[in-house]
Amino acid sequence: MAPFDLESYLTTQSSRVETMLRERLDRLGPAGAPPRLVEAMRYSLTAGGKRLRPILCLTFADAVARASLVSALAGDAASSLEYVHTYSLVHDDLPAMDDDDFRRGRPTNHKVYGEGMAILAGDALLTEAFALLADGPEPVRAALCRELAVASGAVGMVGGQVLDTAEDRPADLDYLVRMHRLKTGALIRAACRMGALAGGGDGEALARAQIYGDAVGLAFQIADDVLDVTATREQLGKPAGADAEAGRFTFPAVVGLEASRRMANEHVSLAIEAVRPLEGEGGPLAALACYAVERKS
Ligand code: IPE
Ligand code: IPE
Ligand code: MG
Ligand code: MG
Ligand code: MG
Repeated sequence: MAPFDLESYLTTQSSRVETMLRERLDRLGPAGAPPRLVEAMRYSLTAGGKRLRPILCLTFADAVARASLVSALAGDAASSLEYVHTYSLVHDDLPAMDDDDFRRGRPTNHKVYGEGMAILAGDALLTEAFALLADGPEPVRAALCRELAVASGAVGMVGGQVLDTAEDRPADLDYLVRMHRLKTGALIRAACRMGALAGGGDGEALARAQIYGDAVGLAFQIADDVLDVTATREQLGKPAGADAEAGRFTFPAVVGLEASRRMANEHVSLAIEAVRPLEGEGGPLAALACYAVERKS
């Protein structure tokens, strides 16, 4: 069997995502949003990025529907995930958080628009994500809103960011795993589950999306920590070596590079196992799980 052509898959899917995002952003100005706010939202949202979360969502939707789903519902779900992810990055980079100057190959949002506008652009991205999800007749939209809300909030991304910045955090592996599952894993898992829901998947498909998303989510943040040590700023489009410099609590800092890589790979294997019944051998979900840890940026 020919190996899955991930590169062309990523190119096709990310251009699909770019179009979805632009279409939705373009509605804000005519609806009355202040131009400067839309500009700040657009600046971060259209700065590139791997688009992994919307791509996972669309790929799950396609896998459970066993067809390429070109629906407003799948597009809204995929876009809402990238809105929330982008907001989390804009706020993560603020001086009060990681205080980073460079993101997705450009100066960070607050460097260009100021801290106040960066906070507001993040707020608007978060809120508009739910406006997208709620905008349609399908009853499943309520479940999609709930998935995204839980994954982004106190028991998801925001909770994880709090664990990450807590001064009294213990330097042990259990805490680190919990923190990674919340700050990054929860949204990636939601991307998979939302795709399965948007594609009309049953309980079994949802359970498989959950196992896969959980494993890929953790592996993805371990890889982010590893890349901060091993990659360059040019590759990443954001500072490299910043975690060690800031004394951040990361996988390589706690267990070392080799053990970090091993744990990430173990989780990729778990993820691939979980989706075999959905897509068979060598499908896009298996390739995306490998990409989560083998990526160069
Ligand atoms: C960076 O996420 C922040 C983490 C949660 C690790 P990505 O690595 O997905 O960033 P983009 O979207 O490609 O810029
Ligand atoms: C951020 O983790 C996770 C978010 C919820 C935004 P990091 O702080 O490690 O992300 P980068 O390295 O700045 O992209
Ligand atoms: Mg951070
Ligand atoms: Mg950061
Ligand atoms: Mg990082």
